[in-house]
Amino acid sequence: MAAAIETKKLTKTYKSRSLGAVNVVDELDLHVEEGEIFGFLGPNGAGKTTTIKMLLSIIYPTSGEGWVLGREIGDMEVHKVISYLPERPYYYEYMTGLELLMFYSSLFGMKDVERCKKLLERVNLAGDATKTISQYSKGMQQRIGLAQSLLNDPKLLFLDEPTGGLDPIAHTEIRDLILQFRDEGRTVFISSHELSEVERICDRVAIINRGKVVRQGKLSELLHGGRFEVIAENLDRSFEDTVKIPDAIVSYANGRLIVDMPEGEDLNALIDSIRSAKGTIVSVIPRRKRLEDLFVQTVRDTNQGAAR
Ligand SMILES: Nc1ncnc2c1ncn2[C@@H]1O[C@H](COP(=O)(O)OP(=O)(O)O)[C@@H](O)[C@H]1O
Ligand SMILES: [Mg+2]
Repeated sequence: MAAAIETKKLTKTYKSRSLGAVNVVDELDLHVEEGEIFGFLGPNGAGKTTTIKMLLSIIYPTSGEGWVLGREIGDMEVHKVISYLPERPYYYEYMTGLELLMFYSSLFGMKDVERCKKLLERVNLAGDATKTISQYSKGMQQRIGLAQSLLNDPKLLFLDEPTGGLDPIAHTEIRDLILQFRDEGRTVFISSHELSEVERICDRVAIINRGKVVRQGKLSELLHGGRFEVIAENLDRSFEDTVKIPDAIVSYANGRLIVDMPEGEDLNALIDSIRSAKGTIVSVIPRRKRLEDLFVQTVRDTNQGAAR
């Protein structure tokens, strides 16, 4: 599949009085495939917004290269087929939702009221079309932002912290919309420091810290915990003592054997021995790591590495 975004050693250096020159984005190599939801994750100040702004040619890289939908960054043609929802969008507060969409669509040279109304419906704001933005809640403002980002029917959307500061219901609404975007074949690049939302919708992620990618890959692979929990019934309690698996935690409660163990060949062997003892397998569950844990661990490790 073609790459929607590719960067090679993309770098942005800022000079500050106290710290001198700092690479806030530091030789970043990213690869985002077409049609996926890509999570760009990192703590505050990691360089997420700076990266997005370089990809959008809002600021220039100090060095390195990047391509968006096959076009080198700086090529403004690509703006026809991409869109951007900034971290803190600023809207004219006295405009109504419909007026706002009409205003932005006029920037694309369109004047299509029906299309704007349809987009309001899409984001569940049809009933609020005549309210002003100042009357919109934070969640409604984010949804009008998503409607605006669909105006040019983009192939690729950049959403910078789209669920920041929203309550759980608003989170869910935004998440559902983003999933629909992918179903329509769009690529979605989401930056976030809030992981629980991203965890449920991203196909692949990159975790960045201090401007560097520290992990990148399929979420399912990064979160693969490497442990399994096996539960079995109809076994004598003495069976517990026959389980000799390194690093396993074995317990027996309420007539059930519970084995929490590393993945590997021991798993099949355990299942075989349960069955030959005429036991019943109740469940074999792979235990996923939580993205939150992976994130904290990764960031902590790289910070320690940097401090050494
Ligand atoms: N225009 C600028 N001048 C100097 N430093 C900046 C500028 N913009 C961002 N930075 C610094 O770059 C770092 C990364 O910022 P940013 O990309 O906004 O992080 P994130 O979006 O991951 O929270 C921060 O330390 C920030 O203070
Ligand atoms: Mg940011």
